[in-house]
Amino acid sequence: MESSYKKLFENNKKWVAEMTQQDPNYFLDLAKGQTPEYLWIGCSDSRVPANEITGTKPGEMFVHRNIANMVVHNDLNLLSVLAYAVDVLKVKHIIVCGHYGCGGVEAAMGNKQFGLIDNWLRNIKEVYRTHTEELSAIDDRKERLRRFVELNVAEQVLDLGKTTIVQNAWQRDQPLHIHGWVYDIADGIVKDLGVTFRDADELPEVFRFNEPIAI
Ligand code: CO
Repeated sequence: MESSYKKLFENNKKWVAEMTQQDPNYFLDLAKGQTPEYLWIGCSDSRVPANEITGTKPGEMFVHRNIANMVVHNDLNLLSVLAYAVDVLKVKHIIVCGHYGCGGVEAAMGNKQFGLIDNWLRNIKEVYRTHTEELSAIDDRKERLRRFVELNVAEQVLDLGKTTIVQNAWQRDQPLHIHGWVYDIADGIVKDLGVTFRDADELPEVFRFNEPIAI
């Protein structure tokens, strides 16, 4: 018990020594502030670490992770991260990255109860409902799960576009692209799903807002 925990402090000491040896000002420079160009919305799964996958260093990526990389419109945590990333940090790209073999998406595809988490997974079931025709036509369960993972990412990208935060950035001509990716745990490769939004014109009409209210 103790050794698995203490190992983390030992690792930290080694890391600090390594980084300082490479660049004596490494931590002093990072302490000055952050100007990341990317916001990452990924799964909490321990096998999908945002920085390692994308070769980005501390300071380069603002990160939000939850089970099954969801953009839930009343999740105050997600909305706060999104608002800070867009309004203050002015990130250029938001990436929703799902992954094949996602336990959350798989659980949402079945009918078993898991407890409190079922209330979170319900949001993913809504994606299934929206795409029932396509998904139920796939006989192979593994293939259906892979497609469900992809469609879930695409829906979360759309959900980002529906927010006033993203739309107001577009209204003020702030460059902001929102992307959907899938990561394959089995080979480490990231795939762009080609569901990028760059403008409110690409949204279904009912979700488009006019200019923000005057305060
Ligand atoms: Co997952």
